[in-house]
Amino acid sequence: MRRSLRRALGSALRWLGVKVCRRSALLLVLVWLASWLFLNGLVFVHRNMFSDFCTDDKSKEILQRVCDEYQQGVLSGDLCDDLCVAGRVEYKRCLYYENGKKVMAASWRGVPVVLKSKLENFSSYEALALLEYQDGAGGTGGEEELSPLDVVFYATLEIKNSLGLETGTNLTLPRLWGQRMKESERTYSRAELASLWALLQQEEYIFLRVLQDLTHHVAKILGSCGHFYAVEFLAAGHAWDQHIFSLEELSLSPTPSPTRGQDKTLTARDMVPRVALSFLEMVEHFENDFSHRLHLCDIKPENFAIRKDLTVVAIDVDMAFFEPKMRDILEQNCTSDNDCNFFDCISKCDRTKNRCGSKRQNSNLQVICEKIFRPWFSPTLLGAKAGLPLQVALQRAVQECAEIGEGRRAVRQQLRALLVELVQEDSGNPGDGQEHKMGRVHTALNF
Ligand SMILES: Nc1ncnc2c1ncn2[C@@H]1O[C@H](COP(=O)(O)OP(=O)(O)OP(=O)(O)O)[C@@H](O)[C@H]1O
Ligand SMILES: *[C@@H]1O[C@H](CO)[C@@H](O)[C@H](O)[C@H]1NC(C)=O
Ligand SMILES: *[C@@H]1O[C@H](CO)[C@@H](O)[C@H](O)[C@H]1NC(C)=O
Ligand SMILES: *[C@@H]1O[C@H](CO)[C@@H](O)[C@H](O)[C@H]1NC(C)=O
Repeated sequence: MRRSLRRALGSALRWLGVKVCRRSALLLVLVWLASWLFLNGLVFVHRNMFSDFCTDDKSKEILQRVCDEYQQGVLSGDLCDDLCVAGRVEYKRCLYYENGKKVMAASWRGVPVVLKSKLENFSSYEALALLEYQDGAGGTGGEEELSPLDVVFYATLEIKNSLGLETGTNLTLPRLWGQRMKESERTYSRAELASLWALLQQEEYIFLRVLQDLTHHVAKILGSCGHFYAVEFLAAGHAWDQHIFSLEELSLSPTPSPTRGQDKTLTARDMVPRVALSFLEMVEHFENDFSHRLHLCDIKPENFAIRKDLTVVAIDVDMAFFEPKMRDILEQNCTSDNDCNFFDCISKCDRTKNRCGSKRQNSNLQVICEKIFRPWFSPTLLGAKAGLPLQVALQRAVQECAEIGEGRRAVRQQLRALLVELVQEDSGNPGDGQEHKMGRVHTALNF
């Protein structure tokens, strides 16, 4: 772009040159050069100012504070000992740091993980009122412990509130927690409870926690220490690289892992239909397998990631809503359908009431077809293969899938059938072993 700008300016100068003398042309060039340098400098400074915060020093400082507080007995978690005492968590690099939200890559007992917290400081989270109350009642001193049922009660309220689920609907999680608590018959220290409370103030943690046992299309929570929780490290999609996720990212270390037999390097083209099938599976999960349908309202490549086994994982769940909350969000005053668009979730304007319908008109699959599949299966990306009958049929199916209309199920089934066929076609790669069990399960403070 810059080059074409320069060329345009050059020709403009040449044109001007007819009338204007050389010296002023030179002046013009100098002025232009100066402003170009100035603008670039500005961009450079700006970029550095913001990336400066996401430094290793800052990350280590933050982790050090977590460990200090762990040693003071302020916070705890199943990751703390490895992080602060045994040195089995190795910090790698900072991934994101803005408005206090901290995301870091690390390696925990050799497993690549991502450490996350919405706020950098433990003290920035609201304290658990229950603990203060107990302080006031002050029975047998500081180490007083709470009944698990109190915790379940608070946790349930917080979760339902956060996810916008009405009370009275069935939410499986707290019941499960309650059962496990009864079985284990143990009580919880205030450090554990304070930590749980800090985690429960992070919508993303709640979301992942609730869906952990229900689907493998969300990132696995592997552990936590205080307000930081560790999720599995995944290969995220990129805005600038529309068509595919890069699996190389999955190994944090630059040295390639020793190739086991099945670790055949899949080319991007082999991966696409497999990843697409996993997208379809995810869509079906989110639609049918929870007590409420789950809507994804911000669908773009960088909000999804894949595991080594090519399962698709939703990583940015800020814009994911269960049906009741979705209805709340969509019900707005309106004068036209345009007022009823909430990012990728749209409904219709009822002109008689001037109110948006509470029912979402498009679906997760429609948007995925439009924003992710269409570029993947476009003729430009398919290259020489684009003219083959299977590819043509696939392009048509994706196009149909992206449109809002009737016969959704038929379209979906056709799309799946075509993708399966495509996978089988290049089936030089047999059984993609679906077994990538992460060694241990995060026990959320051993509930
Ligand atoms: N499990 C993961 N594995 C690898 N990288 C991750 C993982 N989770 C997040 N990231 C990366 O960390 C960065 C920030 O993560 P995250 O999406 O949580 O931040 P965010 O600010 O909420 O995103 P957005 O601004 O899009 O809402 C992203 O660039 C993402 O690619
Ligand atoms: C976090 O705590 C440190 C040390 O107590 C402090 O310097 C910093 O300003 C705090 N950050 C925020 C965002 O509160
Ligand atoms: C909710 O739970 C109750 C009691 O366990 C059960 O009878 C009911 O069928 C459940 N409702 C739904 C919608 O799952
Ligand atoms: C929406 O419309 C109703 C009546 O039509 C009005 O009472 C209400 O204030 C409006 N809400 C907003 C947010 O404009």
